[in-house]
Amino acid sequence: MREIAIAVDGPGSSGKGTVARRVAEALGYQFVDTGAMYRAVGLVALRRGVPLADEAATAAIAAGLRFRFAFESGQLRVWADEEDVTAEIRGERVGAAASAVAVHPAVRGALLGLQRALGAAGGVVMDGRDIGTVVLPDAGLKVFLDASLDERARRRALETPGRDFLQVREELAARDHQDSSRAVAPLRCADDAVRLDSTGLAIDEVVARIVELARARRGR
Ligand code: DC
Repeated sequence: MREIAIAVDGPGSSGKGTVARRVAEALGYQFVDTGAMYRAVGLVALRRGVPLADEAATAAIAAGLRFRFAFESGQLRVWADEEDVTAEIRGERVGAAASAVAVHPAVRGALLGLQRALGAAGGVVMDGRDIGTVVLPDAGLKVFLDASLDERARRRALETPGRDFLQVREELAARDHQDSSRAVAPLRCADDAVRLDSTGLAIDEVVARIVELARARRGR
């Protein structure tokens, strides 16, 4: 049996984070959340008052941050320079900042080496936007997880009670547009990816489908 790298890409709130984590658990693989890296860069830029449009300054943040990931009680915890930023990187403001700094080639370049190194040995499930297309083009299995905008907005709104559904949907659409239309490593389904639409599907079904595909590819 050969341990493979699994790339899980897709738009915001497509469920890829939860699905990737659960697939990793089922296979005994490491889970790598590349969105958390962009979020940490966005968070630090916001805190330091660095303009998100400043490519050199945001790339310097990306190159200088030391990341650490660990699982605690089933949750992925993220440290940036030894500070636990797990909760703070999840906010909408930080998500938008992550998407804004992610348009810069120099920021992406600063994170690419770390992401490739984490995937190099296989036995990993990595989620993001460009994993199958750019980060791990030779991944043993590539999944593009999608869901309708309404369904994704409904999921996001459930995670953030009290927020207006239409506003949540508008923010998601804006972020999708920014992630899909950027010049470098845009969100896109790789030609050799398995496309799964999770609209109306239970998380369990999506996880089971991907685990089955992974077992077939790695030789059970
Ligand atoms: O998956 P997420 O919502 O945590 O990602 C936050 C932002 O980071 C997303 O809007 C775009 C950017 N991102 C990226 O450009 N490439 C990745 N591989 C992962 C995330």
